[in-house]
Amino acid sequence: MIELSLEKARRWFTEEHEARLEPLAKFAFGELYNRDRDAFGKGWIDWPVTDHGALYRDVDAIAADFRAKSNATVVIGIGGSYLGAQSALSMAKPAFTTEGQHEVIFAGQQLSPTYHAHLLKYLDKREVTLVVVSKSGTTLEPSAVFHTFREYLEKRYGVEEANRRICAITDAEKGSLRQFADERKYVTLPIPDDIGGRYSVLTAVGLLPMALAGIDYKRVMEGAARMREELSKLEVKNHPAVKYALARHVLYQQGFVAEALVTYEPRVADFAGWWQQLFGESQGKDGTGLFPTMLRYTTDLHSMGQYVQDARKILVETVLDVHLSDAPDLVVPAGLDEKNAYLDGVPFSRLQEVAIESVMVAHSEAGVPNLLIRAKGDPESLYGELVYFFEVACAVGGYLMGTNPFDQPGVEAYKNEMRSRLKA
Ligand code: PA5
Repeated sequence: MIELSLEKARRWFTEEHEARLEPLAKFAFGELYNRDRDAFGKGWIDWPVTDHGALYRDVDAIAADFRAKSNATVVIGIGGSYLGAQSALSMAKPAFTTEGQHEVIFAGQQLSPTYHAHLLKYLDKREVTLVVVSKSGTTLEPSAVFHTFREYLEKRYGVEEANRRICAITDAEKGSLRQFADERKYVTLPIPDDIGGRYSVLTAVGLLPMALAGIDYKRVMEGAARMREELSKLEVKNHPAVKYALARHVLYQQGFVAEALVTYEPRVADFAGWWQQLFGESQGKDGTGLFPTMLRYTTDLHSMGQYVQDARKILVETVLDVHLSDAPDLVVPAGLDEKNAYLDGVPFSRLQEVAIESVMVAHSEAGVPNLLIRAKGDPESLYGELVYFFEVACAVGGYLMGTNPFDQPGVEAYKNEMRSRLKA
């Protein structure tokens, strides 16, 4: 269940805005389903309601094989080939439960020699399998890290056994990783042509890491399918994803330059990282777009709270208040000293609730529009719902701005510069 509340943003995004902009919102929502526009990036729209029996069988078989062969799998990828899987694992798995479980460790999401050298050392005491994820197959970070870790596996297990311990998730037909994997006879899973990296978490890119970590990814897909049905049927004026997109659009036009996704639950913090890439790469174009950032409250209230409250009013806060059905509660013990007595016997869930309400009031009254997205459910299906909800909001927001939300021409500039320096 996902609900949007605009109460603490109504000073800036009024009902009059909503009524006046309804035709634009209808147009942008219609463009989402217009198959003649940007079809190369729209494969994700029907993906959750498509039959994936064969893919699920392959994912389950590889996960079972790798879990039997190893107790740690290193998943190598960056951007859309990393952030979704990382966020799913953080949200759908309770924290501090690695003991005795299959470990999934991410690598290739940066170029730190220290991180990767320490990881290789850590792997010496584990049985290891490897998953490399790259749609293009030529991204610098995962390529460099994959071949380093492949060599480690080959030295440790011999080439033939190493080949049996590596899975490549890449384009079904083209690209240098596809060619390399076929030559080595690695098991492979495909990334659909018409689904871009940041929209790909519900494909094999996210499903295999989820399966390796013991997450019921079919429930994730059920959640996404439910949201697909719900959001495609709603009228624009009652549509939470379209309203969220429209509110962001209006706030940007009023001069707000950044949006922070605020989370209060550490299990959801990595989801904000996935959200940041989704909106940053989809809408940060043509000299426009809200700068997406994230704040982890209440931790960041003690570092950034002062800035948000009192500094220049550039920021919109979108509070993602997530209630997971498997979350336990705690109660502050009774008998505290006089100054802390007001906390006696108060459940932590109540403390969180009051923190959210109080911070939203304080910040919005100081001039920071606060949008609230409240989400409830079991961790797996809610993760799927949230992914789909934000993908729709992001794509509709792109069409409200008149931009293509599925390309990312800007990320090529630094890559070209790096390649030409390394080739020189
Ligand atoms: O969203 C995107 O398209 C990018 O963030 C890519 O996912 C990222 O650059 C990694 O690309 P690739 O999967 O081709 O290695």
